[in-house]
Amino acid sequence: MSNPIHSLRNVFSLEGKTILVTGASSGLGRQTAITCAARGARLIVTGRDEQRLQETLAQLQGEGHLAIIADLTQIADRERLVQASPHIDGLVHCAGMQKHCPIRQLTEQAMNDIYHVNFLAPVMLTQRLLQTGSVMRQGSIIFLLSTAAHLGTRGVGPYSAMKAGLIGIIRCLALEQVKHKIRVNGISPSAVATPMWDKDQLEAQKARHPLGLGEPQDVANAAVYLLSDASRWVTGTSLVMDGGSIL
Ligand SMILES: NC(=O)c1ccc[n+]([C@@H]2O[C@H](COP(=O)([O-])OP(=O)(O)OC[C@H]3O[C@@H](n4cnc5c(N)ncnc54)[C@H](OP(=O)(O)O)[C@@H]3O)[C@@H](O)[C@H]2O)c1
Repeated sequence: MSNPIHSLRNVFSLEGKTILVTGASSGLGRQTAITCAARGARLIVTGRDEQRLQETLAQLQGEGHLAIIADLTQIADRERLVQASPHIDGLVHCAGMQKHCPIRQLTEQAMNDIYHVNFLAPVMLTQRLLQTGSVMRQGSIIFLLSTAAHLGTRGVGPYSAMKAGLIGIIRCLALEQVKHKIRVNGISPSAVATPMWDKDQLEAQKARHPLGLGEPQDVANAAVYLLSDASRWVTGTSLVMDGGSIL
């Protein structure tokens, strides 16, 4: 008979799983990779900046991890990453960028940049990984969204729209993949201290968050939950993490 305490302890383990984390050269992606490795996973980490990606790699516990330099807006780079990831149990899309861009000042170029990094790249990377059968049965796919996907925030309309668009992808993909027991979810943080923010911006966010600003570890812990068997019954959702600022 299985020991219920034992299974409770292990349900958050990532032992034996291979997890691909994009945006792993910085911020939330880096901390997610480090935390997954500490939970027993083998990691494939990717980013554009070689030095920072190597710094992440050096902080991963365990063996067999892989670092792939890739600009995910480039089809050829995405394809190299797909070839290097033939069997993955988890995929965490952390690569992204935010640009202050009130709609009245929006240019076609800025809109394109925001679209390619935040929407097209994660969607098409997912498409190829599914098409090549790289995502294992009972796999878990996570998209980093934002509270901006759920509410209006001045100056980030295009970013907000791309993250909201991913909610649509998550809901449809979750339904399409459920037959393979592949789960698809999002994580929607508000302000987490990473290089995405400058010091003054973060300071301004503090007052809005009764529980304080988020830390990368908070988001990494949520990713562990959604990647692990602890969330085996959860798909098509977005987990809002907003430190009590309440959407
Ligand atoms: N921090 C927050 O408060 C917050 C809140 C809500 C949502 N988010 C979301 O969380 C995700 C991670 O954000 P973060 O705070 O960790 O930001 P970050 O520290 O600036 O990291 C962004 C990561 O994305 C990668 N990236 C950007 N453009 C790329 C491209 N074209 N190809 C490949 N990789 C690319 C960067 O790689 P290189 O540096 O190597 O170029 C870096 O690893 C983003 O999707 C962001 O929208 C963050």
